[in-house]
Amino acid sequence: MQFDVLEADYLLTAVKVGGLPPPMFAEVAFAGRSNVGKSSLINSLAQRKKLARTSSTPGCTRGLNLFRLQLRGGANIDFVDLPGYGFAQRSKAERVSWGPMIEGFLTHRVGLRGVAILVDVRRGLEDEERDLLEFLAHVKQRALVVATKIDRVPSSKRKLAVLDLAKRAGVKAIPFSSHTGDGRDELWGALLRMAAIDLNPTPMQPKP
Ligand code: GTP
Ligand code: MG
Repeated sequence: MQFDVLEADYLLTAVKVGGLPPPMFAEVAFAGRSNVGKSSLINSLAQRKKLARTSSTPGCTRGLNLFRLQLRGGANIDFVDLPGYGFAQRSKAERVSWGPMIEGFLTHRVGLRGVAILVDVRRGLEDEERDLLEFLAHVKQRALVVATKIDRVPSSKRKLAVLDLAKRAGVKAIPFSSHTGDGRDELWGALLRMAAIDLNPTPMQPKP
């Protein structure tokens, strides 16, 4: 299945949940450690080079960044790029405000259908990811794990690394590389399922 993105727009950056517009379409959010590749992944999914700002300097994304995508076939979905956590260089005030803002968003955002947690496959799950998974289960938000930068793992070791990640996380894990595009279709499929978006709805059959 080929996922072609016809339209992809950056809408806005909100520094608090109240700064987001009312939900229009189903939303999925992307969470993960600073520098794990969230913005690169959004660009890769959107088939755009510079939709989301990327940088080799951690802490590039601040605030909640909202993107709107339209897929061939007509499905619309909104992406929320969350600021990365675990970045010590950030000011204390910023680090302290991260928790409540994200927790508020994950708990109360009506349009949110699920969260993709990005994990650098070479680092594996750490405390922050385990806490986030637990929190999402607590607020009844769906989650999946994306094993990013899979191009850095020898192909013979990828399958096992991803299985291990899924087992530890207790949710589905998908290997992904924004550099090679590996995993893009599988991830799109999983995100649409998580968001309960049917890309090719079967037409209603007339009653006999
Ligand atoms: P913050 O906004 O700081 O939280 O970072 P982020 O998670 O948005 O990461 P970003 O997409 O900006 O990427 C961080 C760095 O990782 C950049 O130097 C990217 O080129 C690199 N990177 C991202 N995806 C991949 C990948 O699939 N493979 C490899 N090898 N490097 C990647
Ligand atoms: Mg980013």
